[in-house]
Amino acid sequence: MKRREFTRLAAITAALVASTMLLQGGSAFAQDKKFKIGFSQVTTIEPWRAQFNKDIIAEAAKHPNVELIVTDGEDKTEKQVADVENLIRQEVDALLVSPKESAGLTGVVQQAIDAKIPVFVLDRNVETDQYTQFVGGDNKLIGRAAGEYAVELLGGAGKATGNVVEIWGGMGTQPAHDRHDGFHEFTDKEPGIKNLLDQQSGDWKQDQAYNLMATALRNNEKIDLVYGHNDPMAYGAYLAAKDVGREKDIKFIGIDALPPEGVTWVNNGELTATFLYATPGAEGLRQAIKFLNGEKVEKTITLDTMKVTKENAAQIMKDNGL
Ligand code: FRU
Repeated sequence: MKRREFTRLAAITAALVASTMLLQGGSAFAQDKKFKIGFSQVTTIEPWRAQFNKDIIAEAAKHPNVELIVTDGEDKTEKQVADVENLIRQEVDALLVSPKESAGLTGVVQQAIDAKIPVFVLDRNVETDQYTQFVGGDNKLIGRAAGEYAVELLGGAGKATGNVVEIWGGMGTQPAHDRHDGFHEFTDKEPGIKNLLDQQSGDWKQDQAYNLMATALRNNEKIDLVYGHNDPMAYGAYLAAKDVGREKDIKFIGIDALPPEGVTWVNNGELTATFLYATPGAEGLRQAIKFLNGEKVEKTITLDTMKVTKENAAQIMKDNGL
């Protein structure tokens, strides 16, 4: 190789090396960008919430550049409002919030939006649509699936008969209303179906549902089906029926389908069915990170559901190591 040619080649190589280093430097910089993300959870005592927190914390562990701050609203609106105010003061890069109830959390979520913090609303909504994204299940769809199945269990479309106890989740939450509305799209078409209770809420809690059901059992000689807006309440109702020896006469339907809870109860023959309501923990965090990295995100992400009965419960448990 002639000397001049060699010099040219060396120069090109040097230029290439330099540009590669620049590229590497650039991407290293992007990866190093730290994000402080706040997540305001409504409570941690309910099993579905515990799973939700596990999911979001596990996702955060996959992103070394993310600092995730998780707060616990202790199932009280005032505490959760204070938590969000605190996260705003800490100047988080994004706020994720799963509200106790819609109305009570709307003001403080608006404060975050006004402070130019991108807000990701998870599972339960707020009364503004100025947030960046909503991630959650389609509760109307789940309610419809539950209603359709209830009609089937009670004798089939056009000829269903039976007395139904519906136990509502929190009255101030959209999921409870959607789960009610969807269910009744099917059951209200059946003249043979009678609703024994009028808007009785167990506030998503097993013990409150137990008490409601104990009263319903005392007041009604015949109960054919219980629809709990979540599995803990359907199971609470089952336990109340069992305590007076009437559990075999009644079908119990719930929602959530956590493998160690609802799916197990279905597998044991305690609940007749449950419908999956996946936690938005992992997906919510992934979406927030995507947005902070400058990518576009959709306004709504809807998580899938499925019906769980005796037919598939054992397999789901197995798939989840149970
Ligand atoms: C937990 C929970 C779940 C339910 C969801 C609805 O707090 O009650 O059982 O599916 O909230 O928002």
